Amino acid sequence: MRIFKIGILGSGVISRTYLADIIAFYKNLEVIACADINVELSQKLASEFGIKKAYTTEELLNDDEVEIVINLTPPQFHVELSKQIITAGKHLFSEKPFAPNLKDAKEVLDLADAKGVKVGCAPDTFLASGLQSLRYYLDANLIGKPFFVTANMTTFGVETWHPNPGPFYTKNSGPLFDMAPYYLSAIVSLLGSIESIAALDAKSSDTRHIYVGPEAGTDIEVKIPTHYSSILRLKSGVVVNLNVSFDIYRSNLPMFEIYGDGGTLTYPDPNFGGGTPSVYRKEQYTDTVYQKTDEAMARKNRFYELPELYPRVKDYSRGLGVLDLAKAIEANSNNRANGSLIMHITEAIEGMMISSENGEFYKMKTTCERPEPLKAGGYMDEV
Ligand SMILES: NC(=O)c1ccc[n+]([C@@H]2O[C@H](COP(=O)([O-])OP(=O)(O)OC[C@H]3O[C@@H](n4cnc5c(N)ncnc54)[C@H](O)[C@@H]3O)[C@@H](O)[C@H]2O)c1
Repeated sequence: MRIFKIGILGSGVISRTYLADIIAFYKNLEVIACADINVELSQKLASEFGIKKAYTTEELLNDDEVEIVINLTPPQFHVELSKQIITAGKHLFSEKPFAPNLKDAKEVLDLADAKGVKVGCAPDTFLASGLQSLRYYLDANLIGKPFFVTANMTTFGVETWHPNPGPFYTKNSGPLFDMAPYYLSAIVSLLGSIESIAALDAKSSDTRHIYVGPEAGTDIEVKIPTHYSSILRLKSGVVVNLNVSFDIYRSNLPMFEIYGDGGTLTYPDPNFGGGTPSVYRKEQYTDTVYQKTDEAMARKNRFYELPELYPRVKDYSRGLGVLDLAKAIEANSNNRANGSLIMHITEAIEGMMISSENGEFYKMKTTCERPEPLKAGGYMDEV
């Protein structure tokens, strides 16, 4: 695979994770430029990571050497800047959320088709070791036919760690746009597309206290729901209970569990790239009807850890989706986090909002295929 020249747009918090991981793990991606609306921030990032060119947005888009631009700006700028990146003839990898609604997402993707460039989008955690291992075990029939999933993203928001928490509590943000994409991508990549959605929302408090950053010590108004509870029906018939919340300090709910007619698969957290799945099989339960031994009783009460089948790059890593996009550009094939997955996840988020507002089931219009699994045993550029 050849080396691709990458530009980063948005030199904030997550750009540092992308850069550290790309430099450490993805030799076929070379970040040659970074940009920001505030050029001092791109200069600072460039000097921290030894990037050759520190740019304004315009300069980045005019640089013919840059082939793929990673859009790491705040969500409210994604659509506009993604269009500019595509119009400049660059391939695009966007952070989530790709767009606030299906209509805007389609406009960006149609523009990319017209310009002949490819598009990818985070989260790419479903390509990493943990969720790919889980997919392998699911497809290998370890728990038989799945019928139910519970997915629970429970945190107490971002105001204890993010330097600019205000925008997280405004329109088109909150846990639904910020965190649901991880869980929805995991669900769709493991079990296929969503057919219908019923959701309800809540808000634990009308204000939030800011603990860090320039606004530390102040209270801000919460303008959106900060909790969503939903039920999804997948095309396969599987039922999913998905809760995403910025209102829960701590919880004992499982973060991700799949139940089948032959057992249960449990997984630590689809927000991360690494994670060891565990299994509980039907026989552990039924054997004790015939065997009352201590061993059989002990087996009845525990899950068994399964090995991860792919190299774990890092628990919290970024760049796999960009590598997958680069491979697809080179092979003129489809990347995994592609337009149809983007449209489906964007619609699911919008559908949860619509359902919670009108109190009715939302019927999905888009579908998508499960992205191709990775071949067990190697990094993406080796398999
Ligand atoms: N912070 C995280 O842990 C994290 C994790 C995963 C994904 N993300 C996603 O990454 C994206 C960026 O998040 P972040 O936390 O790095 O944000 P951030 O606010 O720290 O950084 C964003 C940068 O974009 C720049 N910017 C703002 N408007 C711009 C414009 N119009 N043109 C060019 N530059 C502009 C800002 O000056 C800032 O430096 C978001 O979509 C977020 O959802 C963040």
